[in-house]
Amino acid sequence: MKGLILSGGKGTRLYPLTYTRAKQLIPVANKPVLFRVIEAIRDAGITEIGIVIGDTGDQIREAVGNGRRWGIKATYIEQPKPLGLAHAVKISRDFLGDDRFVMFLGDNVIQGGITKLVQEFSDHPEWNSQIVLTQVDHPEEYGVAELDEEGKIVRLIEKPSEPPSNLALVGIYMFDHHIFEATDAIEPSQRGELEITDAIQWLVDNGYIVYPYIHTGWWIDTGRPGDMLDANSLVLEELEPKIEGYVDRDSEVDSRVTIERGAEIINSVVRGPTIIGHDTRIINSYIGPFTSIYHHVTIENSELERCIVLEHSVIENIPSRIQDSLIGRHVTISRSPIKPKALKMTLGDHSKVGIL
Ligand code: DAU
Repeated sequence: MKGLILSGGKGTRLYPLTYTRAKQLIPVANKPVLFRVIEAIRDAGITEIGIVIGDTGDQIREAVGNGRRWGIKATYIEQPKPLGLAHAVKISRDFLGDDRFVMFLGDNVIQGGITKLVQEFSDHPEWNSQIVLTQVDHPEEYGVAELDEEGKIVRLIEKPSEPPSNLALVGIYMFDHHIFEATDAIEPSQRGELEITDAIQWLVDNGYIVYPYIHTGWWIDTGRPGDMLDANSLVLEELEPKIEGYVDRDSEVDSRVTIERGAEIINSVVRGPTIIGHDTRIINSYIGPFTSIYHHVTIENSELERCIVLEHSVIENIPSRIQDSLIGRHVTISRSPIKPKALKMTLGDHSKVGIL
């Protein structure tokens, strides 16, 4: 069996963070979402993985390389334009050949991995496809499935205004080579994309066996900043804490905190679940629960709670607590300690700042 990760697309809902950075490389609990996807596929016993890349392909190639670090072989497939998930499958045909495969969207984070799903699909060679479904509060934001009384798939619709159920399609799909007949047969949707939802509906309509797999744990599509913070909180809850950095005697660090090598906590309070990245310095500050501070960050005389702060950023002397925030790379937020006291910021296009 092979793996196919979709890591192209635009990431417009995460602007400005994704103007210069692939959304799949934004870290959740200090590990890029894409690395979590690779590990989930590898842990299910699949080592040949194709990665579909678009405009941000160079960053993805640089971050993942040949995949040896994970014990996998990575093959890159260039998608000239984000023409849809089914288009990504179509252009991966040479890589996939006649093998059965798992397709995993590079911005999805799922609890518990995919080993059970991959095993179930392997145990049923007569199944042509298996789709992962889960109950959500806002089905209109996803592909939605309608099942009959026996639990068989009747209909699949992409982001319907009137959803027939609350069962969303999780971005993880199992296919055999019949999916290529479907991707050749369907037409672009109203938004101009070849939809994987339409391709799977084609399989159902043409008598192929598509089986549902109901996922009961948590699952997050990290498309928007709020989703990123939710995913971060959920993954932090499951992180095994460890202290590899330095904590001085005047600091208070609770038991659910990870401090990576070379990090320093000076006269500060850190409450878990939280992770402090390598070579980051926290000085005279409070870092509250559900926060991930990436590497080479400095936080001084400030308070943060439920935030993600990316690498090489500096936050200094901020009088009010920063909460529920996603702060990019090389960002500086500071307040001069001498008069005239003022907030000083360097912000990129489309940044959003709320000031009390
Ligand atoms: O996350 C689950 C949802 O993913 C499903 O419920 C929907 O049925 C499915 O269409 C998809 O919807 P999204 O609107 O969230 O897909 P998005 O455009 O965000 O793309 C998902 C991933 O695939 C993302 O990592 C970018 C990548 N991608 C996307 C397109 C359109 C590609 O690699 N190539 C593409 O052409």
